[in-house]
Amino acid sequence: MALDKPYKNVPGTIIFDAEMARKGYHLNQFSMSLMKPENRERFLADQEAYLDEWPLSPKQRQAVLDMDLNAMMAEGGNIYFLSKIGATHGLSFQQMAGSMTGMSEAAYRDMMIGGGRRPEGNRLKDLDGWTPPAPGEKSETMRENPPARFTSALYTSHVPAIGAAMDLGKTEEPYWKKVFSGYEWTRKWAKENTPDVVILVYNDHATAFDSSIIPTFVLGTGEEYPVADEGYGPRPVPDVKGYPELAAHIAQSVIQDDFDLTLVNEMVVDHGLTVPLSLVYGELGVDEEWPVRVIPLAVNVVQYPVPSGRRCYELGKALRRALDKWDGPELNVQIWGTGGMSHQLQGPRAGLINEEWDNAFMDHLIADPLGLTEWPHMEYVDEAGSEGIELVDWLIARGAMDDQFGGGSPTVDHRFYHVPASNTAVGHLVISNPVAPKSDEAAAEGQSAPVQAESADRPLAEANA
Ligand code: DHB
Ligand code: FE
Repeated sequence: MALDKPYKNVPGTIIFDAEMARKGYHLNQFSMSLMKPENRERFLADQEAYLDEWPLSPKQRQAVLDMDLNAMMAEGGNIYFLSKIGATHGLSFQQMAGSMTGMSEAAYRDMMIGGGRRPEGNRLKDLDGWTPPAPGEKSETMRENPPARFTSALYTSHVPAIGAAMDLGKTEEPYWKKVFSGYEWTRKWAKENTPDVVILVYNDHATAFDSSIIPTFVLGTGEEYPVADEGYGPRPVPDVKGYPELAAHIAQSVIQDDFDLTLVNEMVVDHGLTVPLSLVYGELGVDEEWPVRVIPLAVNVVQYPVPSGRRCYELGKALRRALDKWDGPELNVQIWGTGGMSHQLQGPRAGLINEEWDNAFMDHLIADPLGLTEWPHMEYVDEAGSEGIELVDWLIARGAMDDQFGGGSPTVDHRFYHVPASNTAVGHLVISNPVAPKSDEAAAEGQSAPVQAESADRPLAEANA
């Protein structure tokens, strides 16, 4: 089940992956600062003083002062970042590469002129008979008793006005009371079912990402995410704490599973992420802390082409395989999907709401997720409005659930639908994987039995509040 890192033992070689990037984060960012002439000047004038501005480990700091590139690499540096330090000292790439080989500058240059270093004797396969592994299989079954347990999926709209209503103390006004009534059950449930970490799938609304870069799937691998100022000033809620170790693990596994994620260590998070946290955990001031760590997973739905529902569902499956490979501390994990339901924020058709379609979407999400993946973008846009496309975010959590890996169907613990909040139909759903019996019970009973929650098992259509 362990992560595949076949590159670990290539002789004389350090491969820079998410784990190394985490270790070398400040070292690499310090190196990047030397791309500005004024910073190069300050660094060369007083290296110790310049380095005081960067939170480097003692080993990293000493390696920089010694201009010891091997030591910097061992501490998480990457050669393209570190080359900025070398350039500042006036070194060429050939001088930098040669400095790591134990050869003199002249000997290294002569070796290159002579055709370079021969691979024989310098390859992993020469050392221990290593042969390339067969392509990894994508598991379609789930791991029994995994250390990281995916317990529940939670879905909700993330309308910014909901956050504003909370921040401005308007939740008791009749208009807003109706919206918040749909979250009373959830807040009680959330107190008794606080996970260690939420993988929070949302879409950035031209906040962290502008037109300079359009990443399709962004995984937050950072320590912390400040609350964004979307033009009204930042919401007065706590900043969001990440889970870098688990995020790096997920990145490694999911990218090896053919999903080319964009990894982001520093980004602000907008209403798409903070409003769901507020809805579930209530009013918390800036000096308080959210009760969970959060791994943000942002899906581009701003600029077309956007990923299909099918692609999001498959990403969910890759996410579950990643969780099943986790061998770290025991974790209770929830995956949330936010955005939607029907809404259109633009043009003469603004205000479009489609109650029948929204409820059909929830019905299919619960009982027919694979069928739902066949619905094309045009279906979302035409029926649920241009911004209804946010609903593809919901497919990710669903693809990760037990029943998509041969396990039991989820229980429907809570379902709510209400029109309107601002321009939007509010949809909210909590569904849970069957609770696995402890391994000794499982042996006695032969298989797991789903646990029915209080409001579960109602006919789908009637379950709408
Ligand atoms: C609204 C809804 C959204 O999902 C959003 O991102 C922005 C605005 C609204 O209904 O006003
Ligand atoms: Fe939105």
